Amino acid sequence: MKQKLITILALLLLGASFSVYASPAKDRAALIKYYKKILPDIKFHDYIYGALAMNPDAKAQYDDIMSFPPYGIDLDKGKSMWETPFKNGKKFSSCFKHGGKNVAGNYPYFDNTAGHVVTFENAINACLKKNGEAELEYGGKQMGLLTAYARSLSDGMKVNVKVKGKAALAAYEKGKKYYYKRNGQLNFSCASCHVQSAGKFIRSDQLSMMIGQASHWPEFRGGTKITTLQDRFKQCQKNMRAKPLKANSEDYNNLEYFVTYMSNGLPMQTPVFRK
Ligand code: HEC
Repeated sequence: MKQKLITILALLLLGASFSVYASPAKDRAALIKYYKKILPDIKFHDYIYGALAMNPDAKAQYDDIMSFPPYGIDLDKGKSMWETPFKNGKKFSSCFKHGGKNVAGNYPYFDNTAGHVVTFENAINACLKKNGEAELEYGGKQMGLLTAYARSLSDGMKVNVKVKGKAALAAYEKGKKYYYKRNGQLNFSCASCHVQSAGKFIRSDQLSMMIGQASHWPEFRGGTKITTLQDRFKQCQKNMRAKPLKANSEDYNNLEYFVTYMSNGLPMQTPVFRK
């Protein structure tokens, strides 16, 4: 009898820990199912195109632009930043596995020692600091140019964000809570537009789904205006008439962790054009 009780208790505990740790995967699976239901014509691998996947004309124009991207010169600037040696002779590539190839899809990750989320931009600045160089302004133009090139080294890599352990899960949950929390004068949440209203129009814009939104940053808006993912968070918050947060704040980094997790399994492509 006692043994049976212990077995039941053990199973319950196991179940509890499973449900805790399985939740990001479950969240993602549920969301994929939901989008399939409301937007049955869009194939999963086309989610990376966001709103373009919903509009064949816009997608055809995009393909044209991407065959000869207007931001080629900017990408070259990023390349030369990435390749220019530091004063100590080392380069950015020395800070990353495989010289920085096929690594960007692992970011953001949760650093258990530091106890917080580390974005790719954080890793770039940590590299500069380690090598005695000045850090770049987070989300500034220079950081944008550098990461546009650095992330392009991971083109085709599948987004592979991991949420492992209690503290990582807590950061993920905070990001998720932020995504679903209504705020601002219009009382919208991120989900109001990109989950509940995905595929619908807001003025002339069709709303993309959250899955696929994080695999292609920075973007060159209008062809030349470099925009990072956290810049885009700010713009959306302004549209919501909410007060944008600071780039690299804990809330934004947790939000990026959550949003990027949802793009897991989709191939990276950086940078891209958006109107
Ligand atoms: C009032 C509606 C609305 C709300 C609320 C909103 N957005 Fe957006 N968002 C848009 C529109 C419009 C676009 C441009 C069209 C598109 O790509 O969906 C956009 C684009 C984006 C993109 C870029 C997609 C791409 O591939 O270029 C991201 C990322 C994003 N939003 C994240 C967020 C986050 C995170 C929040 C919450 C902080 C949020 N949005 C809240 C309307 C909204």
